[in-house]
Amino acid sequence: MQTFDLISDIHLEFWIPFIQNVDRMRSQIDSFIDDILPDKPSKVLVIAGDLGHYNEQNILMLTSFRRYYEYVLFTFGNHDLYMISSAQRERYNNSSINRWGEMKQHAAEIPGVFPLDGNLMEIEGVTFGGTGMWYDYSFGIQELGMTKARLHKLWKQAMNDVNYIIESPIFLQEEEKLSKVFKQCNVVVTHVGPDWSNVHGKYRIDPITSFFYFDGSKWLSQARGKIWCYGHTHSSNDYAIEGCRLVNNALGYPNENPFSKLVSIEIVQV
Ligand SMILES: [Fe+2]
Repeated sequence: MQTFDLISDIHLEFWIPFIQNVDRMRSQIDSFIDDILPDKPSKVLVIAGDLGHYNEQNILMLTSFRRYYEYVLFTFGNHDLYMISSAQRERYNNSSINRWGEMKQHAAEIPGVFPLDGNLMEIEGVTFGGTGMWYDYSFGIQELGMTKARLHKLWKQAMNDVNYIIESPIFLQEEEKLSKVFKQCNVVVTHVGPDWSNVHGKYRIDPITSFFYFDGSKWLSQARGKIWCYGHTHSSNDYAIEGCRLVNNALGYPNENPFSKLVSIEIVQV
């Protein structure tokens, strides 16, 4: 395998409305995917979280991707934990973790589709691994000198996560999952980004940036030669830090990145 394809932050229901007519929705999803495919799809697709708000729709999308990809690997983003209606809260017994559990279970039933949640997946000698990860407020603490308490207050005011996620992932547990797989990965996949050094302009002084990254320095110091795929911020990026290539290829909402598509990432074995 020389390349894999990457996308994140698809937010499917913003592109294809969730409707009861499954056949119609399936064909709409198929044509949506046909539109964002690269000219020559790789064998492996990586989705770095934020598939969408409805598990049924996400499953149709994963199945649709399989028309082109032999393997589809994905991790969760914050939106994959959202419960946006009382019906969803009831269905998942008021637990976002239950929603993600259902998603993982149904996805794993599709041959060739593999959730990444603190586990590894080796394909033709390339090891992929990761988990959704979570933000840890480090940006605001380290760059803006803010206290955790103040940032937490701001998080409650500014982020939808507080309204739609019940039982957030716990940062320490996500950290443990990542630590467990990190060493063996050639390709690391997280939804939340590990490094904010490439954040510029108004976002550099905006405390909200604290909710889009975690301090990944302890991993990045041991990441030479790895590729680290992430998302959560809807701005694409491709740069290196300490010999690790960090790539974000977020699709984002329909009005954000009108020309974005899947990208192919070259794997350089070291
Ligand atoms: Fe996100």
